[in-house]
Amino acid sequence: MLIAPSLLAADFANLQRDIEMVNRSQADWFHIDIMDGLFVPNISYGMPVVKAIKAHAQKPLDVHLMIVDPDRYISEFARLGSYTLSVHYEACTHLHRTLQAIKHEGMLAGVALNPHTPIHVLEDIITEVDLLLIMSVNPGFGGQSFIENTYKKVSQAKELILKSHAKTLIEVDGGVNAQNAPKLVSAGADVLVAGNFVFSAPDPEKTIAELKKD
Ligand code: DX5
Ligand code: ZN
Repeated sequence: MLIAPSLLAADFANLQRDIEMVNRSQADWFHIDIMDGLFVPNISYGMPVVKAIKAHAQKPLDVHLMIVDPDRYISEFARLGSYTLSVHYEACTHLHRTLQAIKHEGMLAGVALNPHTPIHVLEDIITEVDLLLIMSVNPGFGGQSFIENTYKKVSQAKELILKSHAKTLIEVDGGVNAQNAPKLVSAGADVLVAGNFVFSAPDPEKTIAELKKD
C-alpha cells in the first residue's frame, strides 16, 4: 500500500521544509492538488509552485487536476515532471481520448470520481485506467470529514478491476485517517492520500509511518 501526503495541507511558507520531511518519511508519492476555482470552488496553486516542488521532491508527483477541460494542460504537467496525472470523470467529454493523451506524454493516466459518481460509469474504460482516484470528500478543500459510502465504492472498484483483468490502482482521497485507513486497505485501496491528518499531526513523519503499517 502506498501513502501520498497531500501538500495542500503543508505550510506554504515552509514548503521546502515540509517536502524534505516527506522525502525522509516512508511516504511513496507527493499528492499535488490543482484547483481552478471553476470545477471546484477553491483555487490552490499552479505551475510555478509545482516546478518549485519538483525541484526538491525525491519521490514521484501524483497530480490531481480539479479543473475544467484538463486536456489543455496535459503536456505542461508532463514537462513539469508529473508521474501520474488524474482528471475528473465529471470534467471530461472524451475521457478515452484524454487518457490516451496522458499516456502518450509518458504519465500514468488517472480518473477521479466525485462522491456522487458511481463506479459503474467506468465499466467500458477501466482497462485504460492506470489509477482510479475515488474521492471520499467533495473535492475543493482539505480537512473535510470522510464519507462512509466510500468503503462500498472501493469494494465495487476492486470487483470491476478483477473482473476486467485490469491493472488499475485504487487511490482514496479525502479525510483519510488512522481509523478509516485499515478498512480502506481491506476493501481494496492501493494508495491513500492524506493531507491534514499528516501535516496537522505533532509528528508528521511518525504519522506517515503508522499509516503505512495498515
Ligand atoms: C480535496 C483534495 C485532497 C485533499 C486531502 O479536494 O483532492 O487531496 O488535499 O486533504 P485531507 O486529507 O485533509 O482531506
Ligand atoms: Zn487530491
